[in-house]
Parts: sequence; C-alpha cells; structure tokens
Amino acid sequence: MGESITITDNRTGESIEIPIERGGIDARAWGSLLPGIWFDDPSFTATSGADSAITYLDGGKGLLRYRGYPIEQLAGATSFLEVAHLIVFGELPNRVQLASWSDEISNEARIHENFHKRILEGFRDDAHAMGVLVSGIAAMSTFWPDGKDVEDSICRRTQMVRLIAKMPTLAASAYRRSVGTPYVQPDPGLDYTGNFLSMMFCQGDRPYEVDPVLRDALDLLFVLHADHEQNCSTTAARVVGSAHADPFLTVASAAAALSGPRHGGANEAVVRMLEGIGSYENVDDFISGVKTGSQKLMGFGHRVYKNYDPRARIIKDTAHNVFEVTGRNPLLDMALKLEEVALADDYFISRNLYPNVDFYSGLIYQSMGFPVEMFTVLFAIGRTPGWLAHWDELLVNESRIARPRQTYSGKLERTVPHIDQR
Ligand code: CMC
Repeated sequence: MGESITITDNRTGESIEIPIERGGIDARAWGSLLPGIWFDDPSFTATSGADSAITYLDGGKGLLRYRGYPIEQLAGATSFLEVAHLIVFGELPNRVQLASWSDEISNEARIHENFHKRILEGFRDDAHAMGVLVSGIAAMSTFWPDGKDVEDSICRRTQMVRLIAKMPTLAASAYRRSVGTPYVQPDPGLDYTGNFLSMMFCQGDRPYEVDPVLRDALDLLFVLHADHEQNCSTTAARVVGSAHADPFLTVASAAAALSGPRHGGANEAVVRMLEGIGSYENVDDFISGVKTGSQKLMGFGHRVYKNYDPRARIIKDTAHNVFEVTGRNPLLDMALKLEEVALADDYFISRNLYPNVDFYSGLIYQSMGFPVEMFTVLFAIGRTPGWLAHWDELLVNESRIARPRQTYSGKLERTVPHIDQR
C-alpha cells in the first residue's frame, strides 16, 4: 500500500488501514470499522461528494481548469459554445464540430408560444427574474416530458442541447415580461450571445446592432461561469439528479440554489451594497461595519479560494474594455476603493478574503443595461453546461441516490400525551 492512514477505535482496540487515493480516503472503509458513527460535516467542508473529471480547482494556488485547460487560456481564446462543448462532452470542438454544435443549439433555441402565454404571463409584474427563471425551467419539464428517460444517454444529450439552447430565450423572455415588451423569438442568423443580447434589447421591428465588444465581454463572462466543480448549485443538481429527477427539474433546483446571495445572488447583492454605501467617502465606515460583523462585504470570500479567485482577475480586466464602450460605471471607484482598503486590512488578510467572481461582474452587467434582477439569471445561463455535465457524469457513473446521515440532537423517545394533557 502507498500512503495511508490508520484509524483505531479506542473502545475496542480494533484498527483499520485506509489508503489515501487522489487526496482522499474512502469513507465506506472507515464506516466498516465504525458502523453507526457518522462524519459530522454539515456544510461538506471536508467531504468529497463526487468523483468528477470536469473541473480542477486548487483554491490555495488560485487555479481553475476546465477539462485540464487553464481558465486564463480559455478566456478570450474560446467562445462560450466551444467551452460548453468542452464541459459537456470533454473536448473542445474542431471547426466542423463547432458548426454542427452551433446549429444544433440554434435549432433548439425557440420556446413554444404557449409557454410565454400560459406560464410566463401568470407571474406578477414585479416578479423577480430569478423566480421566473427557476419556475420557467421547472415548467419545461411539463412541455418536454420525454426528458424523463434519464438512463438513456441519447435522451440525456437531447435535453442538454435543449436546456443550453433555451436558457437565453427564457431569460430574455423573463426580462421582457417584467418590462412589458413583446416576446422575441431567437434569430438563427446570430451567434449564441449576440442573439441573447438581441432578444433582450431589440425594440419593435428595428434591427438590433450587437456591439461586438459587449457581446465578447458577455460571452467571456459566460465562459468564466461555465463550471466550478462541487459548488452549492452543482451539489443541488447532483443530489436531485441522483434521485433520477428529470433534467429540467434538476437544473431548476440548481438555479434555485444559485439565487441565494451567498452564491450566485451575490452579483446582485454587490451592486445593491455599493448603491447603499452611496459615496466614496463612506467606504471606510462601511468596512468598519463589516469588521464588527454588522454586515458582509458582498463579492468577497470563497469557501475554496484562499488566495485570489482567478475569475475575478479576468473580470476586472474585462470591465475596462466594457467601460470604454459604455462609459465608466460610477460605482467602479467605490468598488476599487473597497478592494484596496479590504486587501490592506488585517481582518480580511487573516481570513483570506479576496474579491470573488461576483465582485466586478455586476458592474459590467449594469453598464451593459441589464437590470440588477437579471444578474443572477446571467450567471445561470453561463452555469447551465456545468450543471448538465455534472448531471450527465453522475448518471454515466451509475451513482447511488444521495442520502446523507445526521447527528440526532432531538428528544429521546416520548409517550404521546392525550390532547387534554398537552
Ligand atoms: N465579508 C466579511 N466577512 C466575511 C465574508 C465577507 N464577504 N466572508 C467570510 N467572512 C468571514 C466570516 O464572518 C468568518 O469570520 P470569523 O472566522 O470571524 O467567524 C470567516 O470570514 C470565514 O468565513 P466563513 O463564513 O466560514 O466562509 P464560508 O466558506 O462558509 O463562506 C461565502 C463562503 C462565499 C459564503 C462567504 O465568504 C460569503 O458570504 N461571501 C459573501 C457572499 C459572496 O460574495 N458570495 C459569492 C461566492 S463566489 C460565487 C459563487 O461561486 O457562488
């Protein structure tokens, strides 16, 4: 045996030697020595929940790789659809494969008129776009019930194409419903991200001129969000998928997890925080409040990155390209000052708190004209290939249903009293 650990049960003196393989140990081997004793790890800080070949992340070194390719190389050199292909199928497409993949996606991008009329129009006018998106994805399950054959790889592929293709259409429809403008169906003549921008912002019959700088920046943001191994929403997708729920319901649950401000909802929370701080002069007071625990510095901190989120660095550079077209976002100066003050402060240094992917992305989205309620929806479009790749991988690997145990801390056995004695 190579590297290993030995665990001794001091109650019985029994020992077991367990090999350390790929940085982990098999909890089932431990469990065979200690039946009925559970690992207490409620937020999975020390638990590997999956054997995955999709994304490699080293938080200490600030490394992120999709299928082995460093994010810094993929960013700018590959389009989102190329990266989606890489994440879902394992390889970057060649020119012929990319053309056929783009056609496949484009052909599936439409959404049934009834979906708009019967599902989307049922929401309140002020419904949050993330609530509409999550419900819309779940409703797809009723429009495409053929997606339920999750053990069939051809069926899974069909649903993956559908979801990647329809997410921008659904997202743009959620936006247009909220502002009361007519729904727009996709234009097969446009690329994935240009088409999304056009579906969002085109007015009446006037052709929408897609600005290539803004399109490329948004496409890059989708690339940066495409996967991030076992984060909260992907874990939700794996857990729900392990029950063999259909892919639409599985992705809806992942998107629901993403909506939280600790996760993808942080991009919206950052802009609301900056607006709340109000001016450059208030930054120091705000940071003092963070240090006393009265608020959080949104867009800072990460469970895994304890160095710097490599995506945040790329996004910061992209922001400057975007602001050259749109004009400088007035919140940028405050964000830069917050970063500068925090990175020099012992509270943040000692806790390894650095800007994450959400710190600057919201400023870019806002400058492009997206309302804050759409920010996490944009994250969801980017993350869809990641959720689907994990779902597919889980089913290929013939996993068992996710079913953790608990440490029980409730009452011991009691006798049910008669209602007059309670
Ligand atoms: N502002 C101030 N203090 C913080 C922050 C923050 N943003 N994040 C963590 N801390 C403190 C925390 O209070 C704790 O301090 P102490 O040791 O004194 O109790 C310490 O740092 C360790 O934090 P933690 O809560 O144990 O960290 P976690 O790994 O459980 O949480 C996190 C990670 C991302 C949820 C958290 O850092 C956070 O809430 N950040 C703000 C929200 C945010 O930006 N989320 C986006 C994450 S990146 C996009 C994605 O993948 O979702």
